[in-house]
Amino acid sequence: MGRIMIFTGKGGVGKTSVAASHALKAAKEGKKTLIVSTDMAHNLSDLFQKALGKEPVEVYPKLEALEIDPNYEMERHYGTIKNAFQKMMFNMENVASQMEEMEDITVIPGFEELFSLIKIQEMNETGAYDLIVVDCAPTGETLSLLKFPELFSWYMEKLFPIGKVGIKLFRPISKKMFKIEMPDNKAMNDIEVLYIQLSKLQQMLRDRESCSIRLVTIPEKMVVEETKRNYMYLNLYNFNVDGVFINRIIPEEVQEDFFKAWKAIQAHHIEELEEIFQGIPIYKIRWYDKDIVGIEGLEKVVEESLKDKDLLKVLEVKQNEIFEKTNEGYSLSLYIPFAKKEGLDLVETTTDLVIKVGNFKRNIPLPLVLRKYQVGKAKWQEDQLIIFFEERSEA
Ligand SMILES: Nc1ncnc2c1ncn2[C@@H]1O[C@H](COP(=O)(O)OP(=O)(O)OP(=O)(O)O)[C@@H](O)[C@H]1O
Ligand SMILES: [Mg+2]
Repeated sequence: MGRIMIFTGKGGVGKTSVAASHALKAAKEGKKTLIVSTDMAHNLSDLFQKALGKEPVEVYPKLEALEIDPNYEMERHYGTIKNAFQKMMFNMENVASQMEEMEDITVIPGFEELFSLIKIQEMNETGAYDLIVVDCAPTGETLSLLKFPELFSWYMEKLFPIGKVGIKLFRPISKKMFKIEMPDNKAMNDIEVLYIQLSKLQQMLRDRESCSIRLVTIPEKMVVEETKRNYMYLNLYNFNVDGVFINRIIPEEVQEDFFKAWKAIQAHHIEELEEIFQGIPIYKIRWYDKDIVGIEGLEKVVEESLKDKDLLKVLEVKQNEIFEKTNEGYSLSLYIPFAKKEGLDLVETTTDLVIKVGNFKRNIPLPLVLRKYQVGKAKWQEDQLIIFFEERSEA
């Protein structure tokens, strides 16, 4: 299975242009490449000046493009469960309020988003591509897209502990326990298939050796702030960010007075970005005097800014979640940059550790060995949160 690169960033910063430049570079190097857009407002077809559809279309030798239609994907495979599931997802909100540890999750993200990701996983599984480049919708949506499989699996595990008893056996229990109407048998089978897809999908997204996320930004105050936040959340969810692309930099040769002030502002934000992303490769892309369109436009970006011969590799593999043995028990180190440190809250359930930073939240399933320990203390060490586990005192 191939390499996956996911491009994210604020609206209009150049995600599609940068993602497509990567894809073109890969194809030129002889790698069989697919560029996929998950944004409902697709614009790959404008960029490549070619009509695109629900299945991949060649836009350059070795390069195919696809604009995913999540509704079509959902109907195609899971038509039977659509209604049943939508009803169930709605009911799950009631379930959430009945389960103590789910109290905080009141908003369930769009079910459709999941099917874009499943399609990408399927394309990857075919083995037909060396590289899949994913061009995402603007930041907010990307985040819910990426954390969705985790969140969804979590629901699934609580509601249908498949591995243990089998989904069908669970039906009467869930009806009785949660007062929700379960889907019929055909739909239940589809749910089982979906469940397997989901676990494959999570595996794909979590594989730090092959899947990475790249941030596209511009040197402007608001965008830098958003990029920072985005990065913190991606770390909290343990994704591998391995590149930052600063786009729309006013070129040196522009000397008009009007732009002098802007160049100073940009320089300041570029410096800030370089501080934030120390240790992660940073690429700079100039502001062109016209839109980036067609193969020709992309070629320019590749030639001028993306020459790095290692560009398509996983550039920085940093493990963000490290369990270590200590004298008293274990420690868990998490890399969470830019978190407001005073807003930290740790809650242990029987199986998970729930970490809340501000209004963000992450469930870390605890390894079995840690179940006999409890959280003792936690401390910040720069951008690392270290949580110490101590042996449970006998009550
Ligand atoms: N460095 C640049 N110089 C000149 N034009 C650029 C540059 N980068 C992007 N553009 C142009 O800006 C517009 C927006 O870029 P692009 O579509 O890549 O952004 P995006 O982040 O994908 O936007 P959206 O959030 O709407 O999907 C496009 O018309 C593109 O050609
Ligand atoms: Mg775009």
